Amino acid sequence: MTTINTTNYIAANAGSMILGPFIQSFSELSLAIYLFATTLFELIRNLGEVGVDREKLKVKTGLNLEEIDSVITIAKKSFQNAEFSTFSYHGRIVACKKGKGIFISNALVGEGSYKKVYSGVIFDFNGSIKEKALIVTKDKEIVNEKRIVKEIHSKDVAKLGKLMGKVDDVWYYLGPLWGSDATKVVGDKNKIRALLGAARSLASMHEKGFIHGDVKPENILVKYAKNKFTVLQAALGDLGLTKRQAEIEALDGGTAIYSPPECFKVDNEGDYTKADMWSFGVTLYELMCSNRPLFIEEKWPTDEIPLKAERFLARLSRLQQQDVDKCFRLFPAMDLSPKAHNQLKELIVNLLQIDPSKRMSAKEAVDCLTSILNS
Ligand SMILES: Nc1ncnc2c1ncn2[C@@H]1O[C@H](COP(=O)(O)OP(=O)(O)O)[C@@H](O)[C@H]1O
Ligand SMILES: [Mg+2]
Repeated sequence: MTTINTTNYIAANAGSMILGPFIQSFSELSLAIYLFATTLFELIRNLGEVGVDREKLKVKTGLNLEEIDSVITIAKKSFQNAEFSTFSYHGRIVACKKGKGIFISNALVGEGSYKKVYSGVIFDFNGSIKEKALIVTKDKEIVNEKRIVKEIHSKDVAKLGKLMGKVDDVWYYLGPLWGSDATKVVGDKNKIRALLGAARSLASMHEKGFIHGDVKPENILVKYAKNKFTVLQAALGDLGLTKRQAEIEALDGGTAIYSPPECFKVDNEGDYTKADMWSFGVTLYELMCSNRPLFIEEKWPTDEIPLKAERFLARLSRLQQQDVDKCFRLFPAMDLSPKAHNQLKELIVNLLQIDPSKRMSAKEAVDCLTSILNS
């Protein structure tokens, strides 16, 4: 595809005006007419795309100019038929919303049990190009998640973004793009920063009466500094299982290995904020010790036989302290001072208390992690 633009057009015309008196032959005249016609055609074609910086889009999407033009052409056609539409272009998801812009994905950055999350750029014809996350799901719980994030209305949780549209029972949300989740964070201090962000999210949610219900490393989102290494900001995302404390009848759901031991007790009423704090304890252990707690079995007992549950809890209690000691010997947090290292170990023990009433609160965990980071 030719890439003659307005500048070329002016240059070509100026050229033909200057060269005009010198055009001697018929072939030179036809060349001048041809140049004039093609540049005029390009000018008209580009008028519909005023402001789209295709060079910038090329860098941000990794597509070449021809491919970008093809995407724009298909998107423009789709605007004639629908407010919102999507299509796949060479394996990229493209989502088009009338009046909003065209999103072109460049990578699948995350996938959970319900959602697929793509990084990419959205651009319109006023020159705006923004990096965003496109969240795609078939799960209708997304509507509940959106409502809850709105109700919490706090900068301490990762926002889902705005609904872009829905096609064939698939929802498309456009939200802020985070750097990664906590599973990919490297370095003890960075991990503490990620955990501190998550603890702040929990403190804020608990204060407002919400239980996250699915705390785990994959659900902590982090943003990096320009050096792409230092964690600048972190918060809990994925509020798909979040409920109001008052609405919970019994603990269930969540990811089994992060679920608290009281989950399988028949009578598990009480302060459900502490269920989140157990999951936070397992998350902290996993991130800092590069291993899951040894006493956490892949499968919790599923039957609700009280005697079996009591025996299980007693065994858990015995194993817990030995396990934390062992793990800290095997995986010492290298970048931390001896004082911080001890504080961290104490924190894990205080979070992984079998008795929920003895478990640390989110607010206390925020203070503790702040002190660890500063010592
Ligand atoms: N806004 C975002 N920016 C970057 N990555 C994200 C974003 N939201 C989610 N992710 C990634 O996508 C994964 C799945 O998203 P999540 O909301 O946890 O979905 P699910 O409900 O399916 O678990 C996360 O674990 C994370 O790695
Ligand atoms: Mg998730």
